[in-house]
Amino acid sequence: MKFNYIEKTPIYTALSEIGKRIFLPDGIFYWSGRAKQEAEIIGTIGSAYAYEKDFVEGGSSEWLPCYIKEIKDFSNFTVNQLVPYSSIGGRLETREIWKEWIIKKSFYNEQESSLLARLKKYITTPVITGGVSNGIFQSCSMFLNPNDYIIMPNKRWGNYDNIICKLVGARSQSFEFFKGNEMNIEALRIAIETVAKIQEKIVLLLNFPNNPTGYIPTKEEALSLVEMLKESQRIHKKPLIVFVDDAYEPYVYEKDVLNRSIFYDLHQLDENVIPIKLDGITKDLLIYGGRVGFITIGLKPSWIGDDKELDSLKKEIHNKLEGFIRANISNCNSFYQVLVHKLFKENGFDQIIKSREEVNKLLKLRYEAINSELKKINNPHISIDPNSGGFFLFINLDPNKIKATDFADYLLKEYKVGVIPIQKADENINGIRIAYCSIDINKIPELVKRINLALKDF
Ligand SMILES: Cc1ncc(COP(=O)(O)O)c(C=O)c1O
Repeated sequence: MKFNYIEKTPIYTALSEIGKRIFLPDGIFYWSGRAKQEAEIIGTIGSAYAYEKDFVEGGSSEWLPCYIKEIKDFSNFTVNQLVPYSSIGGRLETREIWKEWIIKKSFYNEQESSLLARLKKYITTPVITGGVSNGIFQSCSMFLNPNDYIIMPNKRWGNYDNIICKLVGARSQSFEFFKGNEMNIEALRIAIETVAKIQEKIVLLLNFPNNPTGYIPTKEEALSLVEMLKESQRIHKKPLIVFVDDAYEPYVYEKDVLNRSIFYDLHQLDENVIPIKLDGITKDLLIYGGRVGFITIGLKPSWIGDDKELDSLKKEIHNKLEGFIRANISNCNSFYQVLVHKLFKENGFDQIIKSREEVNKLLKLRYEAINSELKKINNPHISIDPNSGGFFLFINLDPNKIKATDFADYLLKEYKVGVIPIQKADENINGIRIAYCSIDINKIPELVKRINLALKDF
C-alpha cells in the first residue's frame, strides 16, 4: 500500500519508527478478497471448512467452519465466569489444564516414564496470550533486541515478518528450507554458525506442520535435526532458543513423520537448546475467533539445585511473562479461557480428540486426494514441496517460466480458481499456496485439472 496522503500530514512526521515501518501487507487479503469475488474454487482460506454433516453426526448441509461438536453444549456460564478480569497470565485452572493437555499431546507411553516425569516437572505452566500470534510477539520480544537475528526457514508464515521484523525490529536470517524432498538441515546448521559468530545467543523459529508447505519432518529427519541442534549448541556454547510454533500440531496425515511437536524432543536434551512452545485453541481446538494462545518454556534440570529452586525459577519466568502481557494486552479474553477449561473438564481429553478426529479424517482425505491428483501432472516446471500435514501445500513454479503472481492472476481470471501466490526473489520463492483445508474433496480433481490447464497455457 502507498501512504501518499498520510505522508503529507503532520501525523507522518510524528510517527514513531515502528509507526513508520508497520503496514498490513495486502498479499493474502488481496488474493482472498479477489477469490471471494471471482473464483468458483477457493483455495485461499486458511481455516478448515466442510459440510457440517461430514464432521458432526446429524449436521446440516451447510458449508461451515469445522468445529468440535462439544463447544455447542455450553449455555450455563455463571456471572463469575463471564464478567471478572482473568489473571494477567491467564486463569489458573485453564493454564493448568492446558499443561495437562501438553503432556497428553506428548504421547509418551508407560515405558517412557522418565521422559514423562521430566516433561511434567520441567516445563512452565503455560501463560495465556491473545492467540498464537500474540504468543509469538511476546516471546520474541522477550528474546530479541532490535537488529538481533532470528533464524527462520525461507518458506514461512508471512506474519512472522510482520511481528518479528517490523514490530520487534529483529532481522531474519533465512535458510533454504528444502533440499530436494528433505529438510535442508545443513543449511540450518550453517545459518546457526553464521549467527553464532555475531550474537551471544542463537534464536530459531520452527513450525511443523508448516505454513505454507504442510511439511513435517520424517521421524528420521527429526532425529537428525535434533542431533544437529544439540551438536551446534555444544560447539557454539551459546543458548539456543527454539520457538516452536505448533499452530497446526494435531494435523498429521502420515505414519512415518514426527507425530508430536518437536518441542518434546528438544526439551529432553540436556544441552541448552531451549524450546518455547507456542500453541493455542485456534486450530488445535478449531476455535479461530477465541484468541487464546499459550507460551510454555522448556527448562533444564542442570539449571537448578533442588525443587525449591525450580519453583522459584518458574515463578521468576512467570513474572517476566506476566510483565509482557500486562504491558501489551493486560490480560486475555476470559470467556474463552473458561470455555476451554469446561470443554476439557466436562468431556475429557479423549472425547475432544475423538470429535476432532472427524475433522482430521476429512482433511487427511483431501490431503491424499490433492497429492495424488498433483502427481498426475507431468510438468518439468513445477514441483510440490514435501507435505504430510497441516492445512496447506505449496507448488513451486519455475521462476524463469512462470511468475507466481502472474500465474495466480491468470488462474483466477481464466479458470476461476483462487490461490495465494508467494513470490520473493530474495528468498528464492516463487510458487502458490493451496489451502485444501477449505476445499471440498469433490472439487479437488477439478481444482488440479484447472491448475494443469493454466500451466499448459503458460
Ligand atoms: C504458522 C502459524 N502460526 C500462527 C498462526 C496464528 O494463530 P492465531 O490465529 O492463534 O494467532 C497462524 C495462523 O494462520 C499460522 O499459520
